[in-house]
Amino acid sequence: MHNIKTIGIVGAGQMGGGISQVAAAAGFTTIVFDSHNESLARCKDQHAKRLAREVEKGRMQQPDVEKTLGRISYIHYLDHMKACDIVIEAIVEDARVKKDLFAKLGKQFGADSQTILASNTSSISITELAAAAGPAADRVIGMHFFYPVPVMKLVEVIRGRQTAEGTTGRVAALAAALGKTAVPANDRAGFISNRVLMPMINEAFYAWMEGVAEPAHVDEIMKLGCNFPMGPLRLADFIGLDTCAHIMEVMADGLNSDRYRPCPLLKQLVAAGRLGDKSGRGVFEYPTK
Ligand SMILES: NC(=O)c1ccc[n+]([C@@H]2O[C@H](COP(=O)([O-])OP(=O)(O)OC[C@H]3O[C@@H](n4cnc5c(N)ncnc54)[C@H](O)[C@@H]3O)[C@@H](O)[C@H]2O)c1
Repeated sequence: MHNIKTIGIVGAGQMGGGISQVAAAAGFTTIVFDSHNESLARCKDQHAKRLAREVEKGRMQQPDVEKTLGRISYIHYLDHMKACDIVIEAIVEDARVKKDLFAKLGKQFGADSQTILASNTSSISITELAAAAGPAADRVIGMHFFYPVPVMKLVEVIRGRQTAEGTTGRVAALAAALGKTAVPANDRAGFISNRVLMPMINEAFYAWMEGVAEPAHVDEIMKLGCNFPMGPLRLADFIGLDTCAHIMEVMADGLNSDRYRPCPLLKQLVAAGRLGDKSGRGVFEYPTK
């Protein structure tokens, strides 16, 4: 049993927007906070647009869209999260900024609170975020959703050193109520998803750099031979080459091994501003629509 009725989301960007949409559609009272007013306004606008598209595609009825939107409030003060049974953090991937937030949340939801404090971080140590949360440390956990959140089924649940069993159980039950599958992993850099995926992407860059095959052929071989829906180099563009390089560095440092260092070609493309879909060119080119 998760005993959760109200879900708070801190960070109304790409991931926070998706998590809040899924939470409200699943029937939870949902409160979204962002420190930037423009992000909050954009999130609200995107919720309305994305849900309208669900109606157009026949996947939702208009009254359900109205109910879903009616469950979401967009707030300008973090203090207004008091009623939340869980707060899911999805702010910028910066350890210092996240630790500041967890310190504030730890004060707000102190020792006598039951509120869970979850982070959607892709790479930052849950153990360190828990330490920052002080008296709430045993209620801090990683809930790693995947993009795009309404579509992707997995929530990788990351247990920090201090995370209590009860916290993990409640989060697994909540993930199921959100229509997701929770799979646990322990707190090591890259967790499981990135630890296994990123070295494969990195190796694809090495293979290209060494002239083993052209990028399109690398991807075609992996799609047809391994039944991947998307080749590793196309996936790298989708994720962002800068993000891939950053995650590799985090793993190299966190796991004390240079075998996780980003491929020189990957670093060079990032330096050239070729970041993938978001910049219009990465490994491949994406003409603007
Ligand atoms: N994008 C992905 O594919 C993906 C996948 C899994 C996990 N993640 C993780 O999710 C988190 C968010 O990523 P995103 O892609 O949604 O980023 P984003 O840049 O789209 O959104 C981040 C939001 O956080 C807000 N913000 C920044 N500092 C804040 C603060 N101190 N308090 C409140 N709000 C603040 C920003 O205004 C912005 O709206 C990161 O930790 C990232 O690593 C991202």
